[in-house]
Amino acid sequence: MDKEPDEVADMFDGVAKRYDFMNNLLSGGNAPLWRFATVKAVDPQPGERVLDIAAGTGTSSASFARSGATVVGVDISEGMLEEARRKHQNVEFVLGDAEKLPFHTDEFDAVTISFGLRNVNDPRKALDEMYRVLKPGGRLVICEFSRPPLAITRAGYFAYLKYVMPTLASAASSNPEAYSYLEETIKNWPEQGTLSQWIRAAGFTRVAYRNLTAGVVALHRGRKPQDATVLASVAKRKDAMTRPVPIQSGTVIPATDLPKP
Ligand SMILES: C[S@@+](CC[C@H](N)C(=O)[O-])C[C@H]1O[C@@H](n2cnc3c(N)ncnc32)[C@H](O)[C@@H]1O
Repeated sequence: MDKEPDEVADMFDGVAKRYDFMNNLLSGGNAPLWRFATVKAVDPQPGERVLDIAAGTGTSSASFARSGATVVGVDISEGMLEEARRKHQNVEFVLGDAEKLPFHTDEFDAVTISFGLRNVNDPRKALDEMYRVLKPGGRLVICEFSRPPLAITRAGYFAYLKYVMPTLASAASSNPEAYSYLEETIKNWPEQGTLSQWIRAAGFTRVAYRNLTAGVVALHRGRKPQDATVLASVAKRKDAMTRPVPIQSGTVIPATDLPKP
């Protein structure tokens, strides 16, 4: 979250070749279970268009494509996309930034992001983009590392991140520094309730989450509203938040009347 998009892209370029292997190793074999739960939540249908943001090496995208849906994967790292294109020919992979998606408004039936939102510089901007490219009534699913609610699990998990993961990463990875960045982003990432609030603030309805592996990972969902009146009121609220407030000289504006950042 505190790295510029170019730095993030360079870092992922450097780990692309061994990314899937490291993923399985560091997740203790849990990664396929988290992917399975994500596919179930997205529930892709034949003929639907599904956007997989931060697609990386395409492992997540390929699991959505098995349903017969048309899947587009987008990622900021050319190195990760090279691996993705080599491994998965049935998915279209596009270079692009989650904060400025290279797609039209109302284009996808479902939008999903697995282990990527945490890496984006401004996650709230990315959520606004996800909302924009979804069709009315479209589904959002976010799979992300999270905060185990039980203190004892949390302590064990953070000890794993601090002591065990760096040892494994320096033994097996081509770029162990990338994994200290992983620890940092997981620790600084907001807990489940805060991410749910961000999703609601982006305009989504039916927002809910469920913990996987005792909250090490959380699966968040939301829907873009279908109803034209609700869509219009979300658009109006967002417009009011981005419009500069005209200030006439001598006017004092109470802080409560200012749009929230
Ligand atoms: C941990 S990997 C996850 C890859 C894949 N979704 C998976 O589940 O294996 C994170 C990915 O996010 C991508 N990424 C980071 N910032 C991004 C951004 N602003 N826009 C698009 N992709 C981004 C990285 O290049 C990397 O491929």
